[in-house]
Amino acid sequence: MIVVTGATGNVGGALMRILTAAGERVRAVSRHPAEVPAGARHWSADLAEPAGLKTALEGADALFLLVAGEEPREVLDLAEAGGVRRVVLLSSQGAGFRPDAYRHPVTFEAAVRASGLEWTILRPGGFHSNSYAWAASIRANRTAAAPFADVGLPTIDPADIAEVAAAVLREPGHAGRTYELTGPAAITPRERAAAIAEALGEPVRFVEQTREEAREEMLRFMPEPVVEGTLAITGDPTAAEQKVGPAVAQILGRPPRAFADWARRNLAAFR
Ligand SMILES: NC(=O)c1ccc[n+]([C@@H]2O[C@H](COP(=O)([O-])OP(=O)(O)OC[C@H]3O[C@@H](n4cnc5c(N)ncnc54)[C@H](OP(=O)(O)O)[C@@H]3O)[C@@H](O)[C@H]2O)c1
Repeated sequence: MIVVTGATGNVGGALMRILTAAGERVRAVSRHPAEVPAGARHWSADLAEPAGLKTALEGADALFLLVAGEEPREVLDLAEAGGVRRVVLLSSQGAGFRPDAYRHPVTFEAAVRASGLEWTILRPGGFHSNSYAWAASIRANRTAAAPFADVGLPTIDPADIAEVAAAVLREPGHAGRTYELTGPAAITPRERAAAIAEALGEPVRFVEQTREEAREEMLRFMPEPVVEGTLAITGDPTAAEQKVGPAVAQILGRPPRAFADWARRNLAAFR
C-alpha cells in the first residue's frame, strides 16, 4: 500500500496513474475531494494538519511526500507508527543550489534524512508544466509573456518525475540517495512558446516581460523568497543549474522527455 500526497497535481496525478496501472493499492491524499483512478481511494487531508493523515498512513508501506505545511516531523512520526518503511520526498533543486530561498524544501529534506524511515529525495528543476501559466493568454490571444526570453534551463516533464518516483517507491536500491532531476536539454522561454506554437500549428506571439513585471505577477501566488529565488534561477542561472543531469536516464533507462513532447501531449490546455 502506497500513500501519495499531492495526488491530484501534475506529478501526483501521473504517479497515481502509473501506480494503479501497475496493480498497486494506493491511497490518494489532497485537500479537496477528487476522482482517483480505479484501485485507489481518496483521502481529503491537509499536510499542514497532520492528524488528518493518521488513518491514511495506517498499514501503508511507502509514502510519497510533498513539501506542504511548515515541516513534516509529525507526518513522518505518524508514518513510522503506521508501519510505513519507505518515504520518497518531492523536494526541489533549489534546496541544493539556493538553500536561503528554498527554506521549506531544506527543512523537509533534513527531517526526512533524520527520520527512522528508508528515504530517497527527488530534486527536480523547473517543470515543463509551469508553461500552463500561459494557457489562458495563449487560448485568448495567442500570446505568451515571460522574463529572460533567451535564458535556457533544462526543465523537466512532471510525468518523468512521476515515473522516477514510481520506480523509487517500488524498487530497492534507492535508499539514502538524493537525485537531481532535469529534462534533456536547456530550453529558453522563447523556445518553449515556439514549441507550443508548433504543436498548435499557429503562431504564438512572445512578449518579454521586465524582471519587475514578472516579480509583481509571481508575488500574487508565491511567497517572496521563492519569487526572488525563482527570478534568480530563471534570470541568472549558474552553470550547475543549466546542466542536464544523468539521473532520469539512469533510473528509467531512457532519456527524459523534451518540452515539445509535453506541449503536444497537453495541447488541449492551449487550444
Ligand atoms: N513547478 C516547479 O517548477 C517545481 C520545481 C521543483 C519542485 N516543485 C515541487 O513539486 C510540487 C508538486 O508540483 P505539481 O506541479 O505536481 O503541483 P500541483 O499541480 O500544484 O499540485 C499540488 C498537489 O498537492 C496538493 N496539495 C497542495 N497543498 C497541499 C496540502 N497542504 N496538503 C495536502 N495536499 C496538498 C494539491 O491538491 P489540493 O489543492 O486539493 O490540496 C495537488 O494535488 C510542488 O508543490 C513543489 O513543491 C515544483
